[in-house]
Amino acid sequence: MSEGGARLRSHVAPPAPVSAGGAVLLTGVGKRYDIVAAFAQHTLTIAADPSPLAPAQYAAHVRVAPPRIDDPAYVPFLAELVAEHGVGAVIPLTDLDIEVLARAPQLPALVPDPEVCRATFDKFSCHELLLDRGLPSPPTVLPGSEPDAYPVMVKPRRGSGARSIHPAADREQAEFFVRYVKEPVMVQRLLRGPEFSIDVLGDRDGRCLNAIPRTMLESRGGESIKGQVIADPELIELGRRTAEALGVQGPCTVQAFRDREIGLGITDVNARFGGAFPAPMYAARPGRTYPELIVRMARGERIEPHVGDFAAGHTFTRYYWQLELDEELRPTGRDLVPDGPPVPR
Ligand SMILES: Nc1ncnc2c1ncn2[C@@H]1O[C@H](COP(=O)(O)OP(=O)(O)O)[C@@H](O)[C@H]1O
Ligand SMILES: [Mg+2]
Repeated sequence: MSEGGARLRSHVAPPAPVSAGGAVLLTGVGKRYDIVAAFAQHTLTIAADPSPLAPAQYAAHVRVAPPRIDDPAYVPFLAELVAEHGVGAVIPLTDLDIEVLARAPQLPALVPDPEVCRATFDKFSCHELLLDRGLPSPPTVLPGSEPDAYPVMVKPRRGSGARSIHPAADREQAEFFVRYVKEPVMVQRLLRGPEFSIDVLGDRDGRCLNAIPRTMLESRGGESIKGQVIADPELIELGRRTAEALGVQGPCTVQAFRDREIGLGITDVNARFGGAFPAPMYAARPGRTYPELIVRMARGERIEPHVGDFAAGHTFTRYYWQLELDEELRPTGRDLVPDGPPVPR
């Protein structure tokens, strides 16, 4: 029945396909409805999130509220789901439990080794790891050491979503922001020039399967909301090299600037799906979107690397949508317009 002028639309995920051991468990799904919905097209999809208001869980076939990540019951809870549903891949959608999953050999998590997970969660450790593995990272120091040049960026070591990042033109400004930001920070050369993200996917042996670069035309709260997939050989190669040097398993996003003076510099590595999930989805060849490749890996298939094989040139521009939940927090199925977001004219 339609009420209040809005028309009915089903927000129920498509009928659960036979998982054949290839079910996927996504943790910390939050608002990432696009990712959960994409997996649910291809396999039995389980979403774990402690919040009943995490919208993305409603795109899954099964939704569960796990214990807190730091609770000793967290991993056993996930292990039970793995056994019960024949899960072949566990994929974290936030930074918070990547290392916990990496340290749980009983889970089929697609994440890098724990040391790499730990390093990429701390931007200064990540800087040292990148240099150690022969990858370009801009000059970076901890407070107390003098940077070799200004301007710099004062960045929280454990920042995310572009929180508390401040440019500083000289030593006085840098010292102010180091005191002002209420968490451990580092001081990094401010890079000038276009910023890019490269969405990569690695297999369980750390081989890079694909690396798809995109421009970052506009970001909000750390999410890229406008961008264009580009066939830039230098960026594709940087993505592949980074993925293989870090032993990336599963999805990973590498952010880099092409600075006028120092060339490519990597400023952020996230061992999970990046904010602009749709970009590599649109660019991938049919049957080779990252969720499809992950489902095939979850079923035990070995995928041939096809780095650089994708369609470039398309732009994406993202917007918000929402779900209505009833008094018991069940999706009502109502939407603002029949059958979901209107098709563009
Ligand atoms: N060294 C830098 N030079 C210039 N801009 C930077 C630098 N580091 C970060 N930024 C800007 O701040 C944004 C967020 O920084 P990032 O390192 O990606 O942290 P996070 O995404 O984890 O918050 C980047 O997308 C970029 O626009
Ligand atoms: Mg970032």
